[in-house]
Amino acid sequence: MSIPVVHQLALNESPYPPLPSVRRAMRRAVAQAHRYPQFYPDDLTERIAVWCRVAPDHVAVGSGSVGVALQLLQAVMEPGDTMVYAWRSFDAYPLLADMVGARPVPVPLSPDGHQDLGALLAAFDHRTRVVVLCNPHNPTGTLVTTDRLAAFLRQVPRDVTVLLDEAYVEFAGGSVPDPLALLDAHPNLLVLRTFSKAYGLAALRVGYGLGAPGLIGRIRRRQLPFGINTVAAAAVKASLRAGSELRRRVETVIAERERLRRELGALGWHIGPGHANSVWLAAPDPIDDGAVALTDAGVLARHYPGEGLRLTVGSREANDAVLAALAGVGVRCP
Ligand SMILES: Cc1ncc(COP(=O)(O)O)c(C=O)c1O
Repeated sequence: MSIPVVHQLALNESPYPPLPSVRRAMRRAVAQAHRYPQFYPDDLTERIAVWCRVAPDHVAVGSGSVGVALQLLQAVMEPGDTMVYAWRSFDAYPLLADMVGARPVPVPLSPDGHQDLGALLAAFDHRTRVVVLCNPHNPTGTLVTTDRLAAFLRQVPRDVTVLLDEAYVEFAGGSVPDPLALLDAHPNLLVLRTFSKAYGLAALRVGYGLGAPGLIGRIRRRQLPFGINTVAAAAVKASLRAGSELRRRVETVIAERERLRRELGALGWHIGPGHANSVWLAAPDPIDDGAVALTDAGVLARHYPGEGLRLTVGSREANDAVLAALAGVGVRCP
């Protein structure tokens, strides 16, 4: 008999449902559901541009950040081209490469869970058109610092697009590089962001890319007409008006992440600094036993057998359930 899932901590979602003001905006939009949305999401694009302090021609909105990533690959890759990325990482990268007929080139993470920038560059071949950096990294939560990102961008040839996936940037608490400052210097850079994580709108599928106008124009040409639905657009606009409430939620998630890290550390688990809305437990700690204990406690985590456990930071109650479950798993000292 399978054990019911009480706490869903496997997909790096927000533990919070949409804010009341966002729900009101969604309800108003639902009442207009017999009308089409804008042919292309121009209003939403403008709002996001104002909020990011860039011109609208620097912004492409899509169906989640994965939708924008697919539009990018469709724009810059031909069948047989290669896409380089660190691995383990977000499951969608190889799937997206496959969708455009590209060859995925996974490059192992360093033993401490960092993306190995030198190894990524060394993996380029004459068919490489895209390199992905995930910052903060999924699943390990590690960060590429400003200096290292700048040096990396200087070394990437102009005919290779850098897809800088910042799905978790809000949880890094200001310690991430400011990529917007890099956009004009690097016309081959696309910064990918999402309303699915910190903004808690994962079901509504809105993400966006920031880049130089030439690249953004090519990405927009792959935009599905009527592709962003009215309810989602209304929710995002309302979220942009609720910045301070959402920031408080993010601060709570960060505080809970640090509590989990401290308390798991006190239990003997070895956990490095993490900058996303998750905590990464890695082998040789007993992660497979941990996965069993979590399942028995009704906690669904992301388990990579023999490799690691990624735990989304949940509500306080969910995090307490994690701590209680993992307290019963013996961790050997190094
Ligand atoms: C690194 C990374 N990028 C993108 C996404 C997906 O974001 P979206 O919901 O905007 O498509 C995820 C979701 O888990 C992710 O981990």
